Amino acid sequence: MAASEIIKLMDRSEYYLDSPPTTDHKKTLQGKTVINLFYENSTRTRTSFELASLKLGANVINMTVDSSSVKKGETLIDTAMTLNAMHPDLLVARHGDSGAVHLLADKVDCSVINAGDGRNEHPTQALLDALTIRRYKKNLAGLTIAICGDIAHSRVARSNIYLLTKMGARIRAVAPATLLPSQIQKLGVEVYHTMAEGIADCDIIMMLRLQSERMDSALVPSKREYFHFFGLDSRFLALAKPDALVMHPGPMNRGVEIDSVIADDIRRSLIRPQVEAGVAVRMAVMESLVA
Ligand code: NCD
Repeated sequence: MAASEIIKLMDRSEYYLDSPPTTDHKKTLQGKTVINLFYENSTRTRTSFELASLKLGANVINMTVDSSSVKKGETLIDTAMTLNAMHPDLLVARHGDSGAVHLLADKVDCSVINAGDGRNEHPTQALLDALTIRRYKKNLAGLTIAICGDIAHSRVARSNIYLLTKMGARIRAVAPATLLPSQIQKLGVEVYHTMAEGIADCDIIMMLRLQSERMDSALVPSKREYFHFFGLDSRFLALAKPDALVMHPGPMNRGVEIDSVIADDIRRSLIRPQVEAGVAVRMAVMESLVA
């Protein structure tokens, strides 16, 4: 996606974020059907897609793996074909396998939004992160942004790297070698293996969850040791710019990748604004595909 298209989506999201609900909003997707198809757990993403659909007046159906035929052994493609036969206008899909949402999109007639596929991508999260940064720092270009923690298993990191580098930010990947994908430098990021060096003079610090469910083996010695070396606490935060802000896509593990005091400090933490931006961004994205 071109930078100009990203800016357009962010501008439209900002409009939805700042304007009170109107009857016009409700007409945007009136009579349209959105299906949320989630093969993985989700709190923020699924709820915000649902809320965004309702705010735009769409009919929304939530399918979770627990209550669907997937439990009876139906394959992803069979499920996609079944849903396709019901003629939805939009499918929002999350799946544990990288590339699965792309495969799904090839098989159905409507637009598909990737709500996270394996460790690959999570584009609407990156958009809401970029919008949040822009609101607090005015510009994305020229900022130094440290993405810290389990980058190897993080679709949030990958989508943010693509988007933020395109918008002119400098990205640092800060993690132990076991939690970095090989060839990460090829994505145009600078790599650091200590928090002290990686965070020094940053404008934004984006912390990531240790995604143990995606690890085949233990990649960190213990959670306590991980927190000591890679958890964001006041010792490390003091090394960033004095006005540096902290982000986390959630769900966060307090005391593992982030200290509770920092997560809850409304002068430094953007975690709540990130969630607020999520609904608006998803409204803008759905509108751009269906309206
Ligand atoms: C993330 C995800 O599911 O990729 N959460 C989210 O969508 N807000 C990050 C994570 O699970 O750690």
